Amino acid sequence: MFACSELYPLIKTGGLADVAYNLPRALVQLGHQVRIVLPAYRGLAEVTPPPQPLCRFEIIGYEVALLVSHVPDTTIPLYLIDCPELFNRPGDPYGDGSHPWPDNALRFGLFCRAVVDLVENHCYGDWLPDIVHCNDWQTGLVPLLLADGAANPATLFTIHNLGYQGLFSQQTLAELGLPEEVKGVPLWDFRALEFYGELSYIKGGIVFADAVNTVSPGYAQEVLTPEFGCGLDGLLRHCGARFSGIVNGIDTDYWSPAKDPDIDLNYSVESLADKQANKRGLLARFHLPDDENTLLLGMVSRLTEQKGIDLLLDALPALLDLPLKVVVLGSGEAQYEQRLLVLAAQHPDRIAFHSGYHEALAHRIIAGVDALLIPSRYEPCGLTQMYSQRYGTVPIAHAVGGLRDTIINACGRAVQGESGGASGGEPWDGVAGTGILFDDYSVAGLQGAVASANKLFQHAMLWSCLQLAGMKQDFSWAASAREYNRLYHRILR
Ligand code: ADP
Ligand code: GLC
Repeated sequence: MFACSELYPLIKTGGLADVAYNLPRALVQLGHQVRIVLPAYRGLAEVTPPPQPLCRFEIIGYEVALLVSHVPDTTIPLYLIDCPELFNRPGDPYGDGSHPWPDNALRFGLFCRAVVDLVENHCYGDWLPDIVHCNDWQTGLVPLLLADGAANPATLFTIHNLGYQGLFSQQTLAELGLPEEVKGVPLWDFRALEFYGELSYIKGGIVFADAVNTVSPGYAQEVLTPEFGCGLDGLLRHCGARFSGIVNGIDTDYWSPAKDPDIDLNYSVESLADKQANKRGLLARFHLPDDENTLLLGMVSRLTEQKGIDLLLDALPALLDLPLKVVVLGSGEAQYEQRLLVLAAQHPDRIAFHSGYHEALAHRIIAGVDALLIPSRYEPCGLTQMYSQRYGTVPIAHAVGGLRDTIINACGRAVQGESGGASGGEPWDGVAGTGILFDDYSVAGLQGAVASANKLFQHAMLWSCLQLAGMKQDFSWAASAREYNRLYHRILR
């Protein structure tokens, strides 16, 4: 049973939705029976085929209906926890677009309790999961609530982002009717859910699951340090071998330049030159001058501090000293959208910004730009760097987490170093690389990486080596699904 709070194509704010759609499908390929459980957000009761009511039950005074349908375009059963009072709202799963819903503790607490009721009371028939695979804080109370019963399924808790922890007030414990203690530990205790005076849902997963993982080996190492651990590094170190990292994959059919229906002209390693038509189309779409020979940079991202949009905004004026253009697609914090709008208005022939979430445009940008900017402060895995490599678009990224694990740096000393890189005639460590990574998280660091990209871009041969090496990487889910398979077998009771 795969429990999650987002699922592509039904409801998505980020990469979790992609993982929730693709990992279960890859597990089915390995012979697993997988079912997914999700809250019935607004509109989901209208999916095709229409969900059928299976049973009704009551949780802490709320009427809950269990609906069953299928994940679109698959045979994977999808359970929806229908409690209109809590889930049938406009906005996204977590808030109204500007603020989190004030009752998120109750909403996701009730979701967790409903998942546990499904598993323990079998009201959906005779299918019993061996494992409940939980994802992020929204499902964090599930491992806790399943920890005590010896007959219960084993639990895996996957951390997609340690920066979001589900912190609420102590009184939530009573509101949700949670037990006083689990496995002999009082819940309001630093060894259980208490976290610096608040109640932490993510700790329910980390403390009580049979195994805990995050979405890349690199991030799994980083979060053991105070710098990246968001206050939980000590607890994660304490997990020892119970904690690991498994890198995400991507849907290589859906993100394929050879088949993508949203882009202007399909292409592959054999017809890389056709990528250029997508660049021309994108420049036209954004009313930018049709100058194919200057570097076109893109960014497709949530506009939050994590993604380093503030660093890009600070760096942009200096970046414009180079002959390049930038296209940004994103939605998120108003302050960043505002600054992007102002910069785009000041430089209409150099900077373009599309505010909002736009799936087809994301494909067009990833196919059309020369390089994709990913200046994330931290990145548990990241998916767009893998999409971009598939499309012969060179990622320029901060050397952290999953970015470091999935991009081979083309730029060692020869490009970023003292004597001028390509123009200085130095040997490139570059040609085996697939992208450009920078360590120094500052305007100067980002500027240096973009300058390196620009130099490489002037050398058509070197640039196409980079593009082709990226396109040939295997980012499919198969290998990661096999690692999850091994982990599941380890935790089976
Ligand atoms: P995160 O989950 O932290 O946002 P990921 O890189 O794992 O980061 O996943 C982001 C996903 O959301 C990718 O599928 C990306 O293409 C998509 N995405 C982000 N912003 C937008 C947007 N404005 N429009 C379309 N897709 C977007
Ligand atoms: C989170 C992370 C991102 C990761 C995604 C899917 O949103 O921020 O790095 O790729 O989850 O695991």
